[in-house]
Amino acid sequence: MRKPYIAGNWKMNMSPSEGRAYASSLLEAVKDAKADVKMMVAPPFVTIPAVMDVLKDSPIIVAAQNMADHDKGAYTGEVSPLFLIDLGVKTVILGHSERRQYYGETNESINRKILLALSHNMEVVYCVGETLEEREAGKLEEILKAQLEVGLKDVKAEEMGSVVIAYEPVWAIGTGKTATPEDADSAHAFIRKTVESLYSKDIAEKLIIQYGGSVKANNVKALMAKENIDGALVGGASLSVDDFLPILTFDK
Ligand code: 13P
Repeated sequence: MRKPYIAGNWKMNMSPSEGRAYASSLLEAVKDAKADVKMMVAPPFVTIPAVMDVLKDSPIIVAAQNMADHDKGAYTGEVSPLFLIDLGVKTVILGHSERRQYYGETNESINRKILLALSHNMEVVYCVGETLEEREAGKLEEILKAQLEVGLKDVKAEEMGSVVIAYEPVWAIGTGKTATPEDADSAHAFIRKTVESLYSKDIAEKLIIQYGGSVKANNVKALMAKENIDGALVGGASLSVDDFLPILTFDK
């Protein structure tokens, strides 16, 4: 049985003071609702300390949206995984399509970050997904396969328990266009099959695969009902507690 894992990626939204206020009200709301899912929020780097301050002893995981591919040194503007760990962060989102699209990240550079995060025993949420152009050219499986093969290169079988895959079709992010539950499930099934071929059936069956791309309160239940969809990585709808709470409690 794979426990549902629902995460909010705040992207470049929420200042430290806004994040602190949000975290307090989310914590209150979640206490009353008793959501039976694994929960995570990923604030911007500078907002992490304020949010961590509120959520550190709570069931809500505080994650980072990215990290450097080195531990320290002359890398101006970068944030070391060690600094995140120092703040109590144990989970990091890597390879988000916005990092790929706007900041030149590649399967190879993301692989370096994945290996580094795992070497520090961090949990990695590795984002994969195709653009509209790639989907229309019939390249969905080819793209996913390369993202998995290269992104997970040299990741050991025993480390796979700390890897979550987030399938985020780029054309569904922030556009209001969700993949149909059937389309998402078939991409997830392909991801699971690819992980089985790279590792084992057991690892593939335990793998949590989140769906991301315009997840809202009104579509989460249909997505989560699909066999291969084990969670959600939510952008826009994670930015208000009123929108996020019904997603966290989708099964209620
Ligand atoms: P939206 O939910 O705003 O489409 O964003 C999805 C996403 O990119 C989460 O990482």
